[in-house]
Amino acid sequence: YMGLCPFHNEKTPSFHVSREKQLYHCFGCGASGNLIRYVMNTENLDFVDAVKLLADNAGIVIPDDGEISTESHNKKKKILEMNKMSARFYHNCLKSKDGTTAREYFSNRKIQWKTVITYGLGYAPANKTSLLNFLKDNDYTENELLEAGLAVNRDGKIIDKFRNRVMFPIINVRGEIIGFGGRIMGNEKEINGYKIPKYLNSSETAAFDKGKNLFSLNLAKNSAEQSLILCEGYMDVIATYQAGVKNIVATLGTAITINQAKLMRRYANEIIICYDSDEAGIKAALRAIDVINEAGGKSRVIRLKGAKDPDEYINKYGIEKFREAVKKSLPSTEYRLSLIKSKYDTTTPDGKIKFLDEAVGVFLSIKDSIEVEAYINKVSDETGISKNAIYAKCREKGSGRKTYAKPKQSRVTAERPDGTKQVVPPSIIEAEKRLLSLIVGSKKYYAICKENISPNEFMSDIHKRLAEKIYTAYESGTAPEEAMILNNFSASDKEMNEASSVFYNMEVYNGDTAVIYDLIYTIKEKKIQMQIDNETNISAIGELIKQKQDLINKKKQWEET
Ligand code: UTP
Ligand code: MN
Repeated sequence: YMGLCPFHNEKTPSFHVSREKQLYHCFGCGASGNLIRYVMNTENLDFVDAVKLLADNAGIVIPDDGEISTESHNKKKKILEMNKMSARFYHNCLKSKDGTTAREYFSNRKIQWKTVITYGLGYAPANKTSLLNFLKDNDYTENELLEAGLAVNRDGKIIDKFRNRVMFPIINVRGEIIGFGGRIMGNEKEINGYKIPKYLNSSETAAFDKGKNLFSLNLAKNSAEQSLILCEGYMDVIATYQAGVKNIVATLGTAITINQAKLMRRYANEIIICYDSDEAGIKAALRAIDVINEAGGKSRVIRLKGAKDPDEYINKYGIEKFREAVKKSLPSTEYRLSLIKSKYDTTTPDGKIKFLDEAVGVFLSIKDSIEVEAYINKVSDETGISKNAIYAKCREKGSGRKTYAKPKQSRVTAERPDGTKQVVPPSIIEAEKRLLSLIVGSKKYYAICKENISPNEFMSDIHKRLAEKIYTAYESGTAPEEAMILNNFSASDKEMNEASSVFYNMEVYNGDTAVIYDLIYTIKEKKIQMQIDNETNISAIGELIKQKQDLINKKKQWEET
């Protein structure tokens, strides 16, 4: 299979997936590995979580730390069951006579009935025990209601948590109802000097983790868009979805967490932040940029003018204007720079200094060196501050960071017998790679290899280890499996890419054995030559030259077979 690489930006596909090898490889950026590593990198998970996710998809249960207590498992199941029943109950109440005001409320906020159905919206009656009675009639206990966060203990009396509110079920990507948000139907008000909150969310339970879920992701994930819009409120999401922009989600009444950023990354390659346009919203957006950055994601920021939030904006200006605003959203770096720039007058020397001082913080947080350079050029053009001055400031402030060092040519080193390291010539590396990639697919090639070269003779440490694994597999009577062999390598980018790319050499078996002999010869000959070049002892050189002559003789023999 071939397609656009998920690990770098490209227009023509260079990302390959081999069903047979169970590996992927990008000929553009060099990303390479097996399924577990793919999941680790695309979903931003560590090894254990990647395995768990895969197991989950395959319907295999991996016990947490070896002991999944059936008790907590059952508790969670029970809560999900109760939530489902409660959501139905609230929804039915919305349809009943009791729900008239709630229906009016939704209709005033321009929510259509089909949207009520899509989101399973509901109404929690004003009566203090309506849900309680309903669930008790269905054999649930008060304790279970408390544990599910559906009831609260008010001075020793157990009563419904949500009363006289419109209800928003919170559904995870698996389609389970994990909690609720409830809104009063009107503006904030005080009852007996007690200010009742506009929105009330379920407390955290065995089934509900606010920091790990997002409202409407269950719907947004099915959108064809490559991006996700992140906003603050339930109503923002619902209004936007109803108007036809479906790739929108919201946090659950808390600031965005790293887990939420990672979760979004699973479904989008870019997160478009659409927070309120007030000062608190800007602050929250800057924080969100950092969190998404931390999770390895890319973000943009939408600026809505003339309205406080998406819901208001869409009702006021229409969805097309909103789509335009999405298109005009700024890449996070540009957004941050524009905020800083708006604070200072960069036509004055003093303004330039202050601007630069703050802007450097932005440059230093960018991981991609090409991106840094592009923004430095841009800022230099816009402000007239010289590039040298900006780079100097970056070095000054970022001292100790390697970001600005020139990237080193990647070199492969091998250990000498005395423990010191030496650089291995690329020609040897190339030959070793080709040889390994050919023997892994052909027992016939392996047989020749085994007779003439041992794993120890491979110069690159990674090749040595790969050779050992391949040899061991053949010797134990099984064909080596590339994806399995890779599990013996650390998932660090460098090591895994190097190991995996060996198998992605596109050379295939064609029955011709000469190529194998040639490669073995190249490896051995170059290695001896390297030793000769490094040797100062005359008698040792003589020994090496003899070895080389032996090798040349052997080559003649090979050519005759
Ligand atoms: P806002 O209070 O900013 O939204 O809450 P809003 O636009 O004024 O509310 P609407 O549009 O009139 O309904 C945004 C989000 O913050 C959380 C909720 O998730 C809400 O959707 N929130 C807000 C709470 O959790 N508790 C609150 O008391 C207020
Ligand atoms: Mn609003």
